[in-house]
Amino acid sequence: MYDISGIPARRVAVLGQGYVGLPVAIRAVEVGFEVVGFDIDKTRIDCLRKAETYIDDITDSDLAIAMSTGRYLPTDDSAALAGFDVAVVCVPTPLRDGAPDLSYVEDAAAVIASRITPGCCIILESTSYPGTTEEIFIPILEAGSGLRAGVEFFAGYSPERIDPGNEIWRFHNTPKHRGSEPGLARRAAGLLWPARRTHGAGAGASGS
Ligand SMILES: NC(=O)c1ccc[n+]([C@@H]2O[C@H](COP(=O)([O-])OP(=O)(O)OC[C@H]3O[C@@H](n4cnc5c(N)ncnc54)[C@H](O)[C@@H]3O)[C@@H](O)[C@H]2O)c1
Repeated sequence: MYDISGIPARRVAVLGQGYVGLPVAIRAVEVGFEVVGFDIDKTRIDCLRKAETYIDDITDSDLAIAMSTGRYLPTDDSAALAGFDVAVVCVPTPLRDGAPDLSYVEDAAAVIASRITPGCCIILESTSYPGTTEEIFIPILEAGSGLRAGVEFFAGYSPERIDPGNEIWRFHNTPKHRGSEPGLARRAAGLLWPARRTHGAGAGASGS
């Protein structure tokens, strides 16, 4: 089990409880964090509250165990996001005319921006093109919070590489890249993402 005792972050917010966000949330609960799993889809949130899965890589039992810890709160109420240390944005970026539709990312950024407090970290996991974090994501966070990225809070990009159904490269042992602008975010993202690796597996995440 990954030991989080030396990590200052305690409360994790995961925006989007789909194929990417739900495994992120459940893994974070498993290693000891308090997790708010926020999704705008009330039907999905109702399923999660009843420990009924809707994705292959997470079982009903995984959900029941997470709920039983008292540290997993699935919700469609954005007010519950307040007080997070690390937020992970895992919302859709469907292709439209060959380019990702970033409206979901923009909406999620606006929702989390008003809850940013000094020292916290926000990680974008949704798939997009280079520059999305710096040119679109961070400006929304700064405008909504009135705080400066890289100075008063940290923001970074860690594109999800999950491969649903893959029996060998599962969520916890798939290496992750952590790109970040400004550079301090790399360290901040490191607070949470070592928890993704199996202890001693040797599959390291690399910065970019
Ligand atoms: N599924 C995969 O195998 C995979 C692999 C690598 C990367 N990705 C990328 O990860 C991102 C998420 O993909 P997914 O497969 O998890 O999508 P998904 O559709 O399974 O889940 C996304 C969830 O986000 C919710 N959502 C939408 N807008 C929201 C908002 N503003 N706030 C909170 N929740 C919101 C939706 O209701 C949905 O439940 C995409 O950018 C995708 O390209 C997916």
